[in-house]
Amino acid sequence: MSREKLIEMTRSLVAHGEADTMELADEVVGVPASDYTDEERFELEKERIFKRMPLMVAPSCELPEPGCYKAMEIAGIPVLVTRQKDGTAQAFLNSCTHRGNPVAEGSGKATRFTCGYHGWTFKNDGDLLAVASPKDFGTVDKAQFCLTKFPTLERAGLIWATLDPRSTLDIATYLCGYDEMLEHFGFKSWHLFEQRTLPGPNWKTAYDGYLDFYHLPVLHKDTFGADFFNRANYFAWGPHQRLASPSTSAQKTGSDEIVDLTKIAEEDWPIDALTQGVWTIFPHISIASFYGGGGRGAMISQLFPGKTVGESFTTQFYVMENEPEDEAVRQGAHDQFAFLETVVADEDYTTGKRQHEALQAGMMDKVWFGRNEGGGQVFHQWVDRLIKADDAELDAIFAPQLEAAE
Ligand code: FES
Ligand SMILES: [Fe+2]
Repeated sequence: MSREKLIEMTRSLVAHGEADTMELADEVVGVPASDYTDEERFELEKERIFKRMPLMVAPSCELPEPGCYKAMEIAGIPVLVTRQKDGTAQAFLNSCTHRGNPVAEGSGKATRFTCGYHGWTFKNDGDLLAVASPKDFGTVDKAQFCLTKFPTLERAGLIWATLDPRSTLDIATYLCGYDEMLEHFGFKSWHLFEQRTLPGPNWKTAYDGYLDFYHLPVLHKDTFGADFFNRANYFAWGPHQRLASPSTSAQKTGSDEIVDLTKIAEEDWPIDALTQGVWTIFPHISIASFYGGGGRGAMISQLFPGKTVGESFTTQFYVMENEPEDEAVRQGAHDQFAFLETVVADEDYTTGKRQHEALQAGMMDKVWFGRNEGGGQVFHQWVDRLIKADDAELDAIFAPQLEAAE
């Protein structure tokens, strides 16, 4: 079913490519410029989007074995993600139930965490194992002092968590069937090659860039080249969008190889041709495929709002289908990843910061998304809609999207 959907999208991309056309949104849309700079709006986005919507907190391969963990901060919330003894992933509030100190820092392997303040110890499934000097402290019911759990779901080799322990929004419903599409990458068995974190501009300014091929041959003329395609068709599963370029049946799949799809039976179309383009996961993830050094890989960019409205940070995970066995592939993958850092930091985010400063002058009423930038239009519509929605409405918003995808 979902492979059929991939084939259908590819057929449509090829038809548009052959006809030299693209799918266009109905109209040019303006977004209030203050949406990017207003501090109250920024606080609302953190509260209503980042603290309420499921977020992709880690690729599964970042926590490959039971005992692996990482601590992170998202919109001011300290988060701990662990892989438990039974192999499942779980996200917690990284805050000791005694007086709130974070119980873990950084990443590594541990089956238990001892709080660095007074020494309470927790298991990596969140259970409180021991209170320090228990006779002196007084009797407590340990079951009442477990680490706070966040709803967590692992699908398609990615781990989602909702940073609201009382959330009733089912994460699978929120994914609107998109997880089934992402399964085709096979990330479950992939390997984390390298990762790093970069500072960036306002999170929506940064995210707009991931939903935009229009800028590729202009902003990236010195890196990708001035002849690079600038058209994208958008495919949506609820707020989650794939963008891919209309192309002729001769597909460059990310490797140097060009495959001519007209010469291959549809059922044999290679998976990298079927998944080309950028797969975004609302509100903060972008996945793009590469073949650095000949090894199949993908860069997963994970974007979070920073401390102020004009700041964000992005963790880039370079994941590979196979752990490189020889030095040439390793070096090639490393060079590919380094190249992408330059493109994103020196071109996208440097421009985003300039754009943000200019918008902060407060002299522009609106910024514009053309008919060829439908993905950005859809993204901003979803941000607006979710900011306005009450908790009780969320399920009713996403459930029909999941039904439509099935
Ligand atoms: S705050 Fe953790 S043991 Fe006291
Ligand atoms: Fe870009």
